[in-house]
Amino acid sequence: MIAVKDLHSYYGKSHILHGVSFELKEGELVSLLGRNGVGKSTTLKSLMGMVRPAEGSILFDGQELAGRRSHEIARLGIGYVPEERRIFRSLSVEENLLIGCKRSVDASREPWTLERVYETFPRLRERRGNKGIHLSGGEQQMLTVARTLMGNPRLILVDEPTEGLAPLIVTGVLEMLANVRRSGVTVLMVEQNFKAAVKLADRFYIMAKGQMVFEGDMAALLAAEEVRKNFLEV
Ligand SMILES: Nc1ncnc2c1ncn2[C@@H]1O[C@H](COP(=O)(O)OP(=O)(O)OP(=O)(O)O)[C@@H](O)[C@H]1O
Ligand SMILES: [Mg+2]
Repeated sequence: MIAVKDLHSYYGKSHILHGVSFELKEGELVSLLGRNGVGKSTTLKSLMGMVRPAEGSILFDGQELAGRRSHEIARLGIGYVPEERRIFRSLSVEENLLIGCKRSVDASREPWTLERVYETFPRLRERRGNKGIHLSGGEQQMLTVARTLMGNPRLILVDEPTEGLAPLIVTGVLEMLANVRRSGVTVLMVEQNFKAAVKLADRFYIMAKGQMVFEGDMAALLAAEEVRKNFLEV
C-alpha cells in the first residue's frame, strides 16, 4: 500500500532522517518503535507533507506523495493522529466527529458515519453530548482517532497513542486500534511503549538516529535481544 524509500528530511540545517525505508501492506497494523528523538514523529510528518522530504520517495498506491501538500495527501486517503491530541475542547463529542467528516475517496468501502463510529466505539456514544474538555485522556485519544476515521482514510498514522495514559486506559486504546484495523483500515502506529505495541502489531520497525535498524515480526523482535536492549526502552 505504501512504500517509503530512502527518505531524507531536515529541520533547517539539521539532518534528521538519513535514508528511511519501509513498507506497509494493505490491512496490516505495523508499529514503529524507537527511543526519544530518533525521528519517529518526523517520519510521520514527512509522509503527511508537514515536513517536506529533501530526498527519497513515498509511493502510496503507486502515487508519489513526496512534494505534495498535506491536504492533498489527506484527500488521497491518509489520516494523521498527531502526538498532541487535537480535539475541540469546547465542542461536544458529536460536534468533534462531524468536523472530521469527509466524503469517502473509495466507493468500494463502507463510509464512516456517526452511527458506525458509535457502534465501533460505544464509549463515544455514551459521551456524545459531553464537551471535549470533560473527557478523560483515553476518551480524548479515542475521539481523535474516531474523528480521523470520519475522514474515511485507508491508512492512518497514529503518533504515540498510549503516551501519558494509565495502564487500564492503555488497554482500551489498544483495543480501539485493533477495532480500527479490523474495520479494514491499515494502521502505522508510533510507540515508545514496546509492551503496548507488542500486543497488537503484525510487524515492527525500530528506528535509531534517523534510520531503520530493525524490521521483523514479533518472533523476530523477541529473539533480537541485543536490538531491544540497544534501541528500545524496556
Ligand atoms: N520543529 C523542529 N525543529 C527543529 N528540530 C526538531 C523539530 N522537531 C523535532 N526536532 C528534532 O528532530 C529530532 C527527531 O525528532 P522527532 O520528534 O521526530 O523524534 P521522535 O522519535 O518522535 O521522538 P519522541 O519519542 O520524543 O516523540 C530530534 O532531535 C528533535 O529534537
Ligand atoms: Mg515523537
